[in-house]
Amino acid sequence: MSQLQTLTITRPDDWHLHLRDGDALTDTVAWTAAQFSRAIVMPNLRPPVASTAQALAYRERILAARPAGSAFEPLMTLYLTDTTPPAEIERARASGAVHAVKLYPSGATTNSDSGVTDLARVYPVFEAMQQQGMPLLIHGEVTDPEVDVFDREAVFIERHLLRIRRDFPALKIVLEHITTAQAASFVREQAAVDARGAPLLAATITAHHLLYSRNAMFAGGVRPHYYCLPVLKRERHRQALLDAATGGDARFFLGTDSAPHARALKEAACGCAGCLTAPHALELYAQAFEQRGALHRLEAFASHFGADFYCLPRNTGTLALERVPMAVPECLPYAGGDVVPLGAGQILPWRLASAF
Ligand code: NCD
Ligand code: ZN
Repeated sequence: MSQLQTLTITRPDDWHLHLRDGDALTDTVAWTAAQFSRAIVMPNLRPPVASTAQALAYRERILAARPAGSAFEPLMTLYLTDTTPPAEIERARASGAVHAVKLYPSGATTNSDSGVTDLARVYPVFEAMQQQGMPLLIHGEVTDPEVDVFDREAVFIERHLLRIRRDFPALKIVLEHITTAQAASFVREQAAVDARGAPLLAATITAHHLLYSRNAMFAGGVRPHYYCLPVLKRERHRQALLDAATGGDARFFLGTDSAPHARALKEAACGCAGCLTAPHALELYAQAFEQRGALHRLEAFASHFGADFYCLPRNTGTLALERVPMAVPECLPYAGGDVVPLGAGQILPWRLASAF
């Protein structure tokens, strides 16, 4: 059988993205807008995007940073804190621009110190979200220092997620950037749907967790550009994520978690967590799906299931990849400095041909 040379899919969306702010926006927005039509924009700025007013102002800054002619649409999120008023959910919903609320357990990851310290404190907000049909996006890792860093996602499911699911059975939840077999199984076990028939629990999966196991962080030395949170796991978990992403199950969809940090902040004694994948996101996902002979499943994962979950229309444009080897740049200009993308220096089998 001859090898597929081009792959054309409905224009995809990124359901988990860090665009940063200020000078970085010109770069981050251009990278994402070149591939994706829309993106769920994470609110972990300093200070965090905690109110609807802040989200609307951030949205304007993103729109202003779009390349000429781009129709890229940022879908905004709010950062949940211990003091978020339940009334904020109604304001968020009424704005039409805020599409979800993000839960960072305090201290779990980059810029999460304003995060939630005790879930009981935000139960009134969860109640309002359940009523308004506002999705909760969860960074699902415990912050208990006694728990091994590689176990923090599985322990979060046992200690917290089961309880949230039980106490708010109609709340729409996305378990973000899942990294373990336990998370994939937990999502599969939840069959409940909302009034529109969309799943009540779903998960995003990054390209880097599909392509790399934790060995990548230690190949011949410490590799800071492969360090992200949740941290890469062992090969068995990567295989479970590939099963989930390529299985045609509408509860698993694309979220890059592309999270740039300037080179100097990664190549440091205490380097930041986050991998930059936005500039070659679809190339990476295509490589991962091809490992399973599942390129025919990429379109639904990248372009259908996420929109369906968020009850948004699917895109009408297309994106085409071609089988032409592409070298990932060693570094890219970023906010007046530079940034090292994931897979720097490697040759990827697919490259972007067009996106309309
Ligand atoms: C993200 C960041 O840098 O903002 N880092 C990461 O490793 N993914 C935060 C996050 O999503 O955890
Ligand atoms: Zn993230």
